[in-house]
Amino acid sequence: MVKTIRVNLGQNSYDIRIGSGTLSQTGQILKEMGFNDKAIIITNPIVKKLYGTSLKQSLINEGFWVTILSVPDGEEYKSLESAGKLYHQLTEFGAERTTPILALGGGVIGDLAGFVAATYMRGIPLVQIPTTLLAQVDSSIGGKVAVNHGKLKNNIGAFHQPRTVISDIATLKTLPSAGIVNGLSEVIKYAVIRDEKFFTYLEKNLDPVKSLDDNVLETIVTKSARIKTGVVENDEKDMGLRNILNFGHTVGHAVESVSNFEIAHGQAVGIGMMAGVKIAAELSLVDSKAVIRLAKLLKKAGLMTVLPRLEIEQIMQAMQFDKKVQRGKIRFILPKSIGEVFITDDVSPALIERILVELK
Ligand SMILES: NC(=O)c1ccc[n+]([C@@H]2O[C@H](COP(=O)([O-])OP(=O)(O)OC[C@H]3O[C@@H](n4cnc5c(N)ncnc54)[C@H](O)[C@@H]3O)[C@@H](O)[C@H]2O)c1
Ligand SMILES: [Zn+2]
Repeated sequence: MVKTIRVNLGQNSYDIRIGSGTLSQTGQILKEMGFNDKAIIITNPIVKKLYGTSLKQSLINEGFWVTILSVPDGEEYKSLESAGKLYHQLTEFGAERTTPILALGGGVIGDLAGFVAATYMRGIPLVQIPTTLLAQVDSSIGGKVAVNHGKLKNNIGAFHQPRTVISDIATLKTLPSAGIVNGLSEVIKYAVIRDEKFFTYLEKNLDPVKSLDDNVLETIVTKSARIKTGVVENDEKDMGLRNILNFGHTVGHAVESVSNFEIAHGQAVGIGMMAGVKIAAELSLVDSKAVIRLAKLLKKAGLMTVLPRLEIEQIMQAMQFDKKVQRGKIRFILPKSIGEVFITDDVSPALIERILVELK
């Protein structure tokens, strides 16, 4: 069964379709949406080998003329250089204003293909077909697309909502377990910021997630997608509420960058969430039981709860360079309880530092 979540954004509204085997329905879905003629799949060699043929076939079955464009695997290829090559290939293929780009892969492909779709001919249709847990619960939803430039991540980008998101949970079966763990960090984040019941569900069901029980996977992807959708609907262009999605990311991004990206994003965010809940507990803003609950769930998910050997001074410095710093103040998202957070720039650097020391 396919679950559909509507993302209500006026003229930019779209459906997220979640289910097992949805990938092979893509041709039909696009046809029903009014697309015909040509389609362009952008992917990488790993995902192409796993799912390229079945996606292409489903489109050919509906009469589409299809090309698959492949970008090497890795964050370093989420670049203007890759985008430049893709623009060239799009022109060669004869892409038109109405030709959809299908982003088949994880967040790297989604962001890059999305950026290309946002900019080629001032914007052509984008369809997200996310194949990692992170991409299904996070990056494919909300329309943020970007490439990295110089040392900065995601600093050249646009808002370009997809026409639809097709999340096939069966594709998650081929992910290495570290990939699942990485995505679980964002899943836990959603529960903390918006939904205590979901947090309780995760406390009870996380093991089947790691062994990839279909029902549990579908539930966590659907619940997470709903939470992200709810936030995006209220703040499409990231002017306020969308900030809450950065829970755990202030410290998380700093940890990631100080480790030279050796610590995975999800792992770094896990530490960041621990820092957040501990800061809130220290300020008596949240019950100290929340600290214990979060630590337990993160551990169960295979995420880090203690800070690895990194210089705290460097982490403090990295936080100052974060996009979330406004007028010199570091912005924090802190829990009030499991299920509710608020935004503040009133956390003293001394307290942050003390909590980081405690987390060592
Ligand atoms: N746009 C947004 O709102 C947003 C939000 C969060 C993250 N992001 C971006 O997402 C990116 C990270 O995404 P990610 O974690 O998906 O990483 P990724 O895209 O690099 O994918 C991780 C690895 O899994 C492989 N892979 C993908 N699908 C697979 C499958 N089904 N089976 C086996 N292997 C598979 C990929 O080839 C890659 O090696 C970052 O660039 C980040 O900036 C964007
Ligand atoms: Zn994240």
